[in-house]
Amino acid sequence: MTWNRLHYLLLGGLIILFFTVRMYFHEKSITKLPGRISMVKKNQRSLSVECYPTPRNMLDAREPNMTVISPQEVEHIVFVSNIHKVKSVVSHINNELNMNETTKLRETLNKFAIDFNGFVYLPGGHWKPKKYDDPSRVALIIPFRNREQMLGIFLRRMVPFLLRQRLQFAIFVVEQANNLKFNRGMLANVGFKESLRFEDWDCIILHDIDFLPRYNNNSYTCKNMPRHLMSGIEKRPKLYFQEFNGVTGFSRQQFVMMNGAPNRYWGWGGEDHDLRTRAEEIGFNIFRTEWPYGYYDHTPHQRRSYPEVEHKWKEFNQKAKQYISKDGLSNLNYPKPEIKFHSLYIHIKVNISKLPEDI
Ligand SMILES: *[C@@H]1O[C@H](CO)[C@@H](O)[C@H](O)[C@H]1NC(C)=O
Ligand SMILES: *[C@@H]1O[C@H](CO)[C@@H](O)[C@H](O)[C@H]1NC(C)=O
Ligand SMILES: *[C@@H]1O[C@H](CO)[C@@H](O)[C@H](O)[C@H]1NC(C)=O
Ligand SMILES: *[C@@H]1O[C@H](CO)[C@@H](O)[C@H](O)[C@H]1NC(C)=O
Repeated sequence: MTWNRLHYLLLGGLIILFFTVRMYFHEKSITKLPGRISMVKKNQRSLSVECYPTPRNMLDAREPNMTVISPQEVEHIVFVSNIHKVKSVVSHINNELNMNETTKLRETLNKFAIDFNGFVYLPGGHWKPKKYDDPSRVALIIPFRNREQMLGIFLRRMVPFLLRQRLQFAIFVVEQANNLKFNRGMLANVGFKESLRFEDWDCIILHDIDFLPRYNNNSYTCKNMPRHLMSGIEKRPKLYFQEFNGVTGFSRQQFVMMNGAPNRYWGWGGEDHDLRTRAEEIGFNIFRTEWPYGYYDHTPHQRRSYPEVEHKWKEFNQKAKQYISKDGLSNLNYPKPEIKFHSLYIHIKVNISKLPEDI
């Protein structure tokens, strides 16, 4: 009998030892994540969730699904059986606003609010968490042209991601409606101004459509300094500290203090460096999400359709300081944009053109 008891005790001890060692190695594999992430290859995409440890402490890293999907298909994933109700309020608001220009936008939108899984949903994909009295109010501004294929992929990742973060948010897709070269800076400024008709946002996040956050705890909120939410991508695990591109965040006040983004850059590139110069001139220190939590996946481009810059933006950048007060929100001027509500985003189409102050 006594020998038998000892036997059980030993067995119990062994089992406890086994689980302790197992847990130790599991913890180790979590702390080793950065190395593993940077080694993820394109052809491993389909492996997805399973190759990562179970989420702990809100730390949830998943690869986005890069399969092309339409925004309409994403609506079905997000709304499931509520889809008809949502589509009906969205079409009502589009009709109402078209018929009656003077309608007060915020009042009308509130009339069409829907309760949805702990959120109040407003047409156009403006979500307000109900449990929190004072959630961060975040506007995502997406300068956009010729990237229809990426929009579904973007929404499929971003809407559930932002819902999980329990923010109040809306997504503004700001499209340049002409064939002039792409002007990301001016579209950002238009997006900023137009978005404020919907809500007094605390936080403005300028977001390229081809970058998708990997980590759930890369918080889409603003701080007392402008933010670079992106700290690395697959090909460039750690960005240079001078960079300020892809996904950047500003409180409303910070963006106003910087006079917004420059309007002078037509064509791809340069305006991000200018934005950085603006921030630094005010005396801001840019806050970058720590590695690896600021890891972003890059949606593959079907074709390269953005024309290259038409100017020598390096020369432009040298003059960046003297243009801060002259070029930005202060001289912004654009015709009335076309605004269309969708279930998951607000589409702002604007025909921007060169301003007299352009050089
Ligand atoms: C990715 O999306 C496609 C299309 O929606 C779907 O068929 C596929 O199962 C998804 N892949 C994963 C790994 O979830
Ligand atoms: C337009 O909206 C305003 C304010 O909501 C209202 O007073 C006015 O009667 C409306 N006009 C029409 C034609 O519906
Ligand atoms: C944009 O404005 C320019 C100049 O006013 C005009 O020539 C062009 O046709 C407009 N394009 C669109 C798409 O509205
Ligand atoms: C994300 O979660 C990890 C692990 O819990 C933590 O160490 C890290 O500080 C978090 N990062 C951010 C940006 O919140």
